[in-house]
Amino acid sequence: MPAKTKKEFEEIFLQANAERRKYRRMYQSSVSNTLFEYACDEHFAIGDVCDEIGVEGIRLSRNVIDVQDEGHVSQLITQADDHKTADAWVSLPCADFTPWQHMNVHRHGWGFQQKLDKRRKQVRKMFAQAKRFMKKILAEGGRVDFEWPENSGWWNLEEVKDFEKEHAFRRVYFDGCMIGAHGKDCPIRKPWCVSSCDERILTILAAYQCDSHQHEPAEDSQTKQTGFYTRQFASVIVEAWYPQKWFQHVPNLSTSSAVVTLRT
Ligand SMILES: C[S@@+](CC[C@H](N)C(=O)[O-])C[C@H]1O[C@@H](n2cnc3c(N)ncnc32)[C@H](O)[C@@H]1O
Ligand SMILES: [Zn+2]
Repeated sequence: MPAKTKKEFEEIFLQANAERRKYRRMYQSSVSNTLFEYACDEHFAIGDVCDEIGVEGIRLSRNVIDVQDEGHVSQLITQADDHKTADAWVSLPCADFTPWQHMNVHRHGWGFQQKLDKRRKQVRKMFAQAKRFMKKILAEGGRVDFEWPENSGWWNLEEVKDFEKEHAFRRVYFDGCMIGAHGKDCPIRKPWCVSSCDERILTILAAYQCDSHQHEPAEDSQTKQTGFYTRQFASVIVEAWYPQKWFQHVPNLSTSSAVVTLRT
């Protein structure tokens, strides 16, 4: 298990966060309350929660944009000009980088490995395009997160680590069972990792690490399902980033997290 998120952030990270807050305050009157949901499912839980509380959730699902296509992403980048301080949540496909692929290579041999390498090359192009988009969002004072399962091979790629280093991102580890991932009888652990430029998201998600449940393993049919966010997960993210909107629209404060008083 990797070291869990450090409670205290380094000076360089805190400084980047302070700068971004200052910039966002400067543009307060035109702060967009917009969240680009990059490479999401059409029925994306974060998008649904955004709709409900009056945050503009722009769902960039497969039928809207091909995130492998340089031209499509360039067009999207120009759209970000109209949404100063918009945020982005990025969830690129993870199937080709699951640890299961070691087993598949072992079982199916060289031919499988070659096909897998080809697919990985394609999805790595997605990250190259996502980087262009994330840089634009950050340059406009927006906040950016990207996520994969904790044990995903994505986290070991140099281009991912270089991006995180260049833009002062930090990782937080937490467990899906703490935010609604449930199987037939028991919670499913679903260890997750989010890389973020944002102190608030990192602090809040770090509170969702499990040390108590009895878990059941995700069966084949559930594995894909656990890649989709639960309603609770979506609510935690949206509340963390848009607390004013959240509290205007959610009358039952008892469902909110305990750390909402952190500065934004
Ligand atoms: C890991 S899933 C994200 C699921 C997300 N966590 C959710 O709850 O909806 C990756 C998403 O990327 C989308 N996707 C795959 N290839 C894509 C492409 N070329 N362009 C746009 N989206 C794509 C898939 O349709 C899928 O919804
Ligand atoms: Zn648990």
